[in-house]
Amino acid sequence: MSNVHLVSHPLVQHKLTLMRRKDASTNSFRRLLNEISMLMAYEVTRDMPMQDIEVETPLETMQAKVIDGKKLVLVSILRAGTGILDGMLTVVPGARVGHIGLYRDPKTLTAVEYYFKMPGEMENRDVIVVDPMLATGNSAVAAVERLKELNPKSIKFVCLLTCPEGVATMQKAHPDVPIYTAAIDRELNSHGYILPGLGDAGDRIFGTK
Ligand code: URA
Repeated sequence: MSNVHLVSHPLVQHKLTLMRRKDASTNSFRRLLNEISMLMAYEVTRDMPMQDIEVETPLETMQAKVIDGKKLVLVSILRAGTGILDGMLTVVPGARVGHIGLYRDPKTLTAVEYYFKMPGEMENRDVIVVDPMLATGNSAVAAVERLKELNPKSIKFVCLLTCPEGVATMQKAHPDVPIYTAAIDRELNSHGYILPGLGDAGDRIFGTK
C-alpha cells in the first residue's frame, strides 16, 4: 500500500480506540474526532510550502518562515467531513474551505453529488479532502474526480479510518493522491460498513441515531 500514511502516533491511536466504543457519547465522540483531526493536520501539512518574511523581534530584524494558509483548501465531504474540518481549521485557521455534498445510494452504494462549492483560483491551491470513513471509496473517488477538473496544485486525502477495499478503490482511480489515515481495519461488510470500525460516523458525530 504505497502512498498510504498510517498515523500511528500513540495519542491518535488512544483517542481512536475511545471513539470506537459503542457507548461513547456524541459529545465525547465529537471532541475526540476534533482532537485527532488536529493531530492529523500536523502530519498532512508536514511538507507544506513555506516562505520567508521579515520579522522584528524585540532585539533585531530577521527572516523567518511562515506557511501561506490561504493557498490551502480543506474540502469537506458532507456531512461527516465536518467533524474533521473543524479540528483542522483550529490549527490552520487561514485555510479556505470547500464543500462537496455526496450521498451514498443505499442500493448501489455509488456516490451521488448534490452540492459542490469551492473557493476561486483552485489552480493555485493545495487541497486536502477530508472524510472520516474511506469505506467503499466511491465518495472519495467521485470527490477527487470533481476536484481534478479544477486543476489544483496538489490533492491529499485524510480519513480517520479505512479498510483494504477502500484503499484499493481509491488507489486504482487516483494513485497520485496520498491517503492519510489513523487505521486500516479488517474489511468492508455487504452494507458498506467498515469492520470492526466505529459505526456510522455521521450519526455518531451529530447524534442522529
Ligand atoms: N461510513 C460510515 O460512517 N461508517 C462506515 O463504517 C462506513 C461508511
